[in-house]
Amino acid sequence: MNESTNILIVDDNAANRDTLESLLVRLGHDLRFAQNGEDALAKAKLHRPDLILLDIHMPGMDGYEVCKNIRSDPVLGDVPIVFTTANDDKKSKLEAINAGADDFITKPIDGMEIRARVKMILRLNRYGKLKQVHNELQDAYEETLNGWVRALDARDSETEHHSNRVTLLTKIFAQRTGIADQDLEDVRRGALLHDIGKIGVSDHILRKPGPLTNEEWVIMRTHPQNAYDMLEPIKYLSKSLDIPYCHHEKWDGTGYPRQLKGDAIPFAARIFAVVDVWDALLSDRPYRKAWTREKAMEYISANSGTHFDPVLTVLFLKMMSEGNI
Ligand SMILES: [Fe+2]
Repeated sequence: MNESTNILIVDDNAANRDTLESLLVRLGHDLRFAQNGEDALAKAKLHRPDLILLDIHMPGMDGYEVCKNIRSDPVLGDVPIVFTTANDDKKSKLEAINAGADDFITKPIDGMEIRARVKMILRLNRYGKLKQVHNELQDAYEETLNGWVRALDARDSETEHHSNRVTLLTKIFAQRTGIADQDLEDVRRGALLHDIGKIGVSDHILRKPGPLTNEEWVIMRTHPQNAYDMLEPIKYLSKSLDIPYCHHEKWDGTGYPRQLKGDAIPFAARIFAVVDVWDALLSDRPYRKAWTREKAMEYISANSGTHFDPVLTVLFLKMMSEGNI
């Protein structure tokens, strides 16, 4: 058991506090005591307990009131609260639940029962904290990825908002193809980061207003390999590599960087290739206006079996002809 775990025992009756202390002391937690509601709130704020054992009937602020106060506190709000009460009636329990109680223990308190309940609640609470840390970590990762994409978008005006649009459409299309739910998040991250390798391409090529020379194209075409080198060591992104690494491969084997052909191209990259070209065609470029949907659909169809996976092309065109995307 974590030695830093601390329990706040709130009871106006000294004999009850002593009883709880004698029953819980052997579990090895730090026990703290409060004699009334105001004292309980002050000590909860000061010590941030892992569990509060709370008497209902106390002079002044009663247990319900203490519980409501704690639940509305932004820091303490989630702390487990167990009511210790002589009231075993339904009405008191309902009122306690409405106030935000997690559990009840009826007085006179049985030693084995309270120790078992305390252990269980602390274990569940530890799991809750782990989940919270996990969620915070996920958010931090997501923010980092978004930061990279913003950094790239800021340099490459042509792709402004392109990353977010293709990410959204890739997710929708991937769902249509029947990709498993647990793989969708990897696909989404891959789409978001598809051109992240362009971070390694210099400004004079990336921002060049006119057409690129052959030498400049050679450098531009290094971006999938750059992405692989950048992302591969990051374990968290290992399942999202397919799109950044393989989105310029073509079905007939004439793409880059590895000239992969047909089914050898990862499925996610084949999905993305259609979406990427579709979005580019529907966007204004300095050298041409955005195409109409009909013209873009004709282009996608004409390149089925050469650039694009023929089965995915049919699915994509069907999805687009439904017109609600
Ligand atoms: Fe690209």
